[in-house]
Amino acid sequence: MTAPLLLTDLCAATMSPGGGAYGLVDGAAIAIEGGAIRWVGAACDLPGDLAGWPRRSLDGRLVTPALIDCHTHLVHGGNRAREFEMRLEGAGYEEIARAGGGIVSTVSATRAEDEAGLLRAALGRVDAFIAEGVGTIEIKSGYGLDHDTELRMLRVARRIGEMRPVTVVTSFLGAHAVPGGEDADSYIDETCLPALEAAHAEGLVDAVDGFCEGIAFDTAQIARVFDRARALGLPVKLHAEQLSHIGGTALAARYGALSADHVEYAGDADAAALAQAGTVAVLLPGAFYTLRETQAPPVQAFREAGVAMAVATDLNPGSSPLGSLLLAMNMACTLFRLTPEEALAGTTRHAARALGLADRGEIRAGLRADLAVWDVETPAELAYRIGTNPLYTRIFGGQA
Ligand code: NIG
Ligand code: FE
Repeated sequence: MTAPLLLTDLCAATMSPGGGAYGLVDGAAIAIEGGAIRWVGAACDLPGDLAGWPRRSLDGRLVTPALIDCHTHLVHGGNRAREFEMRLEGAGYEEIARAGGGIVSTVSATRAEDEAGLLRAALGRVDAFIAEGVGTIEIKSGYGLDHDTELRMLRVARRIGEMRPVTVVTSFLGAHAVPGGEDADSYIDETCLPALEAAHAEGLVDAVDGFCEGIAFDTAQIARVFDRARALGLPVKLHAEQLSHIGGTALAARYGALSADHVEYAGDADAAALAQAGTVAVLLPGAFYTLRETQAPPVQAFREAGVAMAVATDLNPGSSPLGSLLLAMNMACTLFRLTPEEALAGTTRHAARALGLADRGEIRAGLRADLAVWDVETPAELAYRIGTNPLYTRIFGGQA
């Protein structure tokens, strides 16, 4: 529990809907108590009972909700720099994957690492996120594709949440790729589903994810994984329509998924289905950029249908070796034409929703006091700069 504290002399981008752009409150104050936001508003409206609280002036700085990266694969072994070189020499992502490279090569490297090795490498990536104002990170399994390694990845993810001041939300991604030499259906039934049951029994799973694609699993196979998730009472999400349109987005919507991620090849009907289901579209410009994809997600259709859009790094060693959520926001604007306000909503309010977290993502009374304080004059600067980190300080659960 944290002692009461009144943050003063700040500009708050509350990101709460209904007000002006960014939910901006100039000349604001934020009262924090017990790790939560007790009050936020214009300092001139400060309730009398808070006036005597210990104060900390932020000298006019901008305060936003702490950022949320709602899609990462940051626990993994090895790297795929050689694949980067191959792509530059002309090889395609799918071609490399079919030739035994891609996800399956990271699987070998991940299986070869013990818990300590995976943890060491992952902590460096997490620390870089924390240093740019991130307070919540989603971490997937999916580079094990066997019982032991899938569970090891998730244990490492949980450990990160204990070792660092950051909330870690896990996703079981056993249906990420078909291990070399195995049949997809048998893999799902004999390895993936039993591993999901075991991971869930150990309390390691917050949600269940899959990769619905020609080089991975079809909709019927993903539906079997989702049925099991439902039976276990776990929410689902899906890598859908990244490289082609095979119906993953509609499937995700049908299961009331938290999110459908990538969605470059989604269409108008998919947008309507996501809106109807309240499923968030998670945009991953790092993968789009790295793979030199040319089809951008249907952002305008999402806007018109009222689909909430989140933005994430997709940090992984292959398609998105991107370790900066601020850079993902910049890319979402430049590559996908999001506005800087949409990009910030995509890493705060909408990212929280993509993780099913109702207690964060805005600066609002009653929510967690997860805040980022920035040395910028306007919130648009967060998405505008490339390769700069204007974070002044981060407050996590009320603690600086
Ligand atoms: O989100 N699309 C599937 N999974 C990852 C790629 C992982 C990899 O290439 O290792 C993604 O882009
Ligand atoms: Fe991914």
